[in-house]
Amino acid sequence: MAREHVCPWWMIHTFDNPVRRLFHDPEKMLGPYLRQGGRAADIGCGIGFFTLGLARLAGDSGRVYAMDLQEKMLAGVERRAQRAGLAERIETRRVGADNLGAKDLTGSLDLVLAFWMLHEVPDQEAFLRQAKDLLKPGGLFYLAEPRMHVKAKEFEESLRLAGGLGMRLSERPEVRLSRGAVLAA
Ligand SMILES: C[S@@+](CC[C@H](N)C(=O)[O-])C[C@H]1O[C@@H](n2cnc3c(N)ncnc32)[C@H](O)[C@@H]1O
Repeated sequence: MAREHVCPWWMIHTFDNPVRRLFHDPEKMLGPYLRQGGRAADIGCGIGFFTLGLARLAGDSGRVYAMDLQEKMLAGVERRAQRAGLAERIETRRVGADNLGAKDLTGSLDLVLAFWMLHEVPDQEAFLRQAKDLLKPGGLFYLAEPRMHVKAKEFEESLRLAGGLGMRLSERPEVRLSRGAVLAA
């Protein structure tokens, strides 16, 4: 089920561009799941399309961890965060393909977002376990996968893996061009 392919940094602007706002509005989509002062991670953040929205929702007292495999993606997040005056709320972290290396965040987050990235992860179960470990009890895991690359059956298999780790399906939000689910830890 997992694919070897990782989105290359030079391809990110094909979908992270102003047109995307017409169908993905980060604050509207994620507003119901993160309050002011909240703590979130955007794993597989790319150049931060959702990271900035999360930082706006989290407010001055909140914190957002932007995690990605690729340094060039994280550099893009940092540039955008500076420009938007949101750098104080965002911490970028380079992670390994199978290791988030984020033990210091265990049980501390309100929301973990994995948007259009899970199908690129080599070991989904190991990834989901680590994502769940970051959440507070009752914290939320927002998963969205691209319809173009992930079949319904594959998405259901990811949800089954998450269920096996003790995450409870809480909602199936409508996410344009995507299959989406929100699970509670
Ligand atoms: C298709 S892009 C999506 C970026 C962003 N979430 C968005 O919606 O604009 C997938 C991103 O996930 C990252 N990625 C892939 N596998 C990863 C892994 N195992 N851990 C963390 N990031 C990963 C890639 O480097 C890439 O930046």
